[in-house]
Amino acid sequence: MNVRMAKRGAFITFEGMDGSGKTTQLRRLAARLRGRGRTVVETAEPGGTPIGVQIRRVLLDSANRELCPNAELLLYFASRAQNVDQCILPALERGEIVLADRFTDSSLVYQGYGRGLGSENVLALDRIACRGLKPDLTLLVDIDAATSLERAHARNAAAVSRDRMDEQSLEFHRTVYEAYHRLAAREPERVKLVDGAADMDAIERAVWELVSAHV
Ligand code: TYD
Repeated sequence: MNVRMAKRGAFITFEGMDGSGKTTQLRRLAARLRGRGRTVVETAEPGGTPIGVQIRRVLLDSANRELCPNAELLLYFASRAQNVDQCILPALERGEIVLADRFTDSSLVYQGYGRGLGSENVLALDRIACRGLKPDLTLLVDIDAATSLERAHARNAAAVSRDRMDEQSLEFHRTVYEAYHRLAAREPERVKLVDGAADMDAIERAVWELVSAHV
């Protein structure tokens, strides 16, 4: 199917460091849009489909220490390919709004830069998995690396177990932070920064201001 010829809703992604609060904001935005009579599909990566959820378990299992960086990258894209085909494109063709908690930009910053696999490899996989689908708008909920690590630790202290991605160093978080900012500078039309340190209501208003221009 030709993605460009399909009747389109809007595809909006949320990005940000772990603990940025993007998931809360995604839910609030979904509620607002539904309140205005729009049909909204919420999805998350890795995951989003039953097969994606199985892939997610492999990715986040802290027992999988030997998972090599290339296998990790391919698994994120396997989950994404399934999500694009089974969930995202069909919803957009129905004219619905799709809100995704993370998408290819996460692979770009975490695997491409964080793990040093390079943006070219990530973009090559994007072409296969996403078949030309790009977000209309990406909301980057911005918190710094130290805050991200602090919130991840607080979450871990309350949780039964740490997941594999939560065991990263401050240096890894800093690399991810810088990569997100470079991305926003490179694609200012699509990637919009929202201050994740503000209170939740203020963030919600900022998100709405950006989204209302697109829907
Ligand atoms: P998750 O529990 O969904 O956390 P969050 O609420 O922060 O999104 O875990 C997702 C983890 O996977 C997160 O640490 C980021 C990482 N990730 C990648 O490294 N690459 C990717 O392509 C995606 C989608 C996520």
